[in-house]
Amino acid sequence: MNTAIIYATREGCTEKCAHTLAIELETNIEIFNIELDKNINLLDFETVIIGGSIHMGLINKKIKNFIDKNIEPLSEKKLGLFICCMYEGEKAQEQFRNAFPEKLRDNALAHGFFGGAFDFDKMNFFEKAIVKKVANIDHSSSKISLENIKSFAENMSK
Ligand SMILES: Cc1cc2nc3c(=O)[nH]c(=O)nc-3n(C[C@H](O)[C@H](O)[C@H](O)COP(=O)(O)O)c2cc1C
Repeated sequence: MNTAIIYATREGCTEKCAHTLAIELETNIEIFNIELDKNINLLDFETVIIGGSIHMGLINKKIKNFIDKNIEPLSEKKLGLFICCMYEGEKAQEQFRNAFPEKLRDNALAHGFFGGAFDFDKMNFFEKAIVKKVANIDHSSSKISLENIKSFAENMSK
């Protein structure tokens, strides 16, 4: 049973989560960074997991375009969807709803909220300024939820 994890990342958090998830899933997995791997053949996979991070309320554009282009084949897969973001609760739910179309959300075996991280070493000047202003944080910090990654993996395996 082949599984693809397809992700986009800006500062590396979603990449880290994708690799942690792959370890938890313990199955035959291929991991694709959508920025680097242009040729992803969905026909090769029975299960597809898609994840991206949220910036200014939106999921990565390449993930959005990939989903829009492949909505029909994706709706026939065993599907998992996750986001990395710093908001929690209803705000995170809202960002998730905004990131993925209803048809795929309804079809997904698992919805993941893996938390997020601020990596000041990888942010540009403007990103640092935004984070300082909006989140009032001026140093790197991480709140990736291993617990949520594990329960996502369990739901995918059911
Ligand atoms: C410029 C900027 C804007 C962000 N905007 C949001 C946001 O609107 N909502 C949110 O929940 N998190 C926001 N975040 C937090 C990111 O989602 C978080 O840092 C995430 O872990 C980034 O993942 P990545 O490194 O895989 O891109 C923002 C972070 C930055 C640097």
